[in-house]
Amino acid sequence: MKALVTGGAGFIGSHIAERLVREGHQVVVYDNFSSGRRENLATLEDKVEVVDADVRDAPQLDYRMAGCDVVFHEAAVVSVPYSVEHPQETHDVNIQGTLNVLLAAKKNAVKRVVFACSAAVYGEDPELPKKESMRPLPISPYGVEKITGEMYLQTWAKLYGVETVSLRYFNVFGPRQDPRSPYSGVISVFVSRALEGQTPMVFGDGSQSRDFVYVGNVVDANLRAATTPGVSGRAYNVGCGQRTTLLELLGMLGRIVGRDLTPTHGPVRAGDIKDSLADISLARAELGYSPVVGVEEGLRRLIEHVRSTR
Ligand code: UD1
Repeated sequence: MKALVTGGAGFIGSHIAERLVREGHQVVVYDNFSSGRRENLATLEDKVEVVDADVRDAPQLDYRMAGCDVVFHEAAVVSVPYSVEHPQETHDVNIQGTLNVLLAAKKNAVKRVVFACSAAVYGEDPELPKKESMRPLPISPYGVEKITGEMYLQTWAKLYGVETVSLRYFNVFGPRQDPRSPYSGVISVFVSRALEGQTPMVFGDGSQSRDFVYVGNVVDANLRAATTPGVSGRAYNVGCGQRTTLLELLGMLGRIVGRDLTPTHGPVRAGDIKDSLADISLARAELGYSPVVGVEEGLRRLIEHVRSTR
């Protein structure tokens, strides 16, 4: 098949592109390189078509989608705090950009669009685990943008016969997640500190927990979402179905790097939720998804990767 991956030079998008190429598919990487990186495509040189363009550029998207069977829409401004500071910009990229993808998909008779949604749609409702049937209650522009994108997808499935699947990612981690940004995920920050011999900083007491999911599992969910029949218009949680506290995370990391990682503590970060956990039974039942790489094994792979690229 021919696939277009928006955000294909980014953290998750580049892993999807890599897997598609490995499986013999034709791939167009569509990325404006605002957070995506050329290095993320190092293994794909000459194997994919790279388009340096923005999802806000509707004519370009339309043109590049010609002949594509599937679109993986990973391009987004992914930071919750950034969306709070810049709601107009994140609206333009995350909502208008998604609408542009769907318009182009309809025009080019793309068979299926798979969308990178987020656990942010659940907001701060403390009920766990999160199930897809719960009412979305986002508490940030980012969460509003992601649920809006998902609703557009559902509408497209009903109105125009473009098949769509939305994947609500929990806390994704793995190689190529940038540890240098102020919006970096906690695992990329902790791993980079651990390997540089620095002490990690925990915001709060470290008892907060997240459903950390290794990027390889997320790629697997995407491929299943693109190919499983009879699931159009649906949304699925993509996590591990298990939660890990920050202190447990540091324990695992310490064992892997062979160093005590007792952290320093700072104040609780404004807007943080305490715990997060996905119910992944729907994705298991309908997509055959299974998070085969657990958190500790994912950490091992990440550390191996970071060590090998230093
Ligand atoms: C994550 C996502 C966000 C998503 C949201 C949905 C990432 C990077 N962010 O935010 O896109 O919309 O879930 O709910 O995946 N922490 C520390 N020390 C640090 C860095 C972080 O203690 O150096 C703490 C944070 O305060 C937080 C926890 O680690 O309690 C996880 O933080 P983070 O990785 O940013 O993820 P979320 O806040 O869950």
